[in-house]
Amino acid sequence: MLKLGVNIDHTATLREVRHGIEPEPAFAALAAQSAGADSIVAHLREDRRHIKERDLRVLKEVVKVKLNLEMSIAEDIVDFACKLKPGQATLVPEKRKELTTEGGLDVVSNFKKIEEAAQRLQKNGIGVSLFIDPDKEQINAARKLGLKMIELHTGRYAEAKSEKEQDKFFKEMEEAAKYGREKSMHVFAGHGLDYYNVSRIAGIKEIEELNIGYSIVCRAVMVGFERAVREMRELMR
Ligand code: PXP
Repeated sequence: MLKLGVNIDHTATLREVRHGIEPEPAFAALAAQSAGADSIVAHLREDRRHIKERDLRVLKEVVKVKLNLEMSIAEDIVDFACKLKPGQATLVPEKRKELTTEGGLDVVSNFKKIEEAAQRLQKNGIGVSLFIDPDKEQINAARKLGLKMIELHTGRYAEAKSEKEQDKFFKEMEEAAKYGREKSMHVFAGHGLDYYNVSRIAGIKEIEELNIGYSIVCRAVMVGFERAVREMRELMR
């Protein structure tokens, strides 16, 4: 069955607006877990704008499902990940000024650096996934690294301005997911998915897991975290 990874970054964003102690991201993680989330996702950004090291240490202790740490390949972040030892690390590109992760990792151009980071993480028992655009060249490069997990960036699909454009980017996702599976990779997807656009992507049978954050946190403000997660799971089915 299609799995749901719940990204809780934006509970920490809300906390940081006041530099306070609420809301506590670990509470959100536990609520998501009891509502059936298959994994908890958190991104330790280089500028620490939301999730901090402390949050991840707490999450590592209390979360029973897979903890998926989104991270860049900056050396200090890789050092931290190797100490934390989450179940999975998802390598993402990172630009300081972006509001959110803008595109997939360019594995083709940064092959050596990504290889070094991935090998260090793997030596520490951490499964490595790469967040890439739905593009065959990038999938081939990930495969060449010997990695078995990719997360396809759904941003272009999610941000499509017309039905025609959405159809085009949906096809691109379908083809990339199929190609990834043919290469024996585990294919995940995420970014910009919400209660209105998720069903179509959930219908791509090669995709094993969706990672969703912002829309779930937004709905949670209105209906509570558990219900927000349950509603998303129902739509995915
Ligand atoms: N997957 C990855 C790799 C991401 O970087 C993000 C954003 O942090 C997400 C999924 C979730 O995106 P959104 O918050 O738009 O649902």
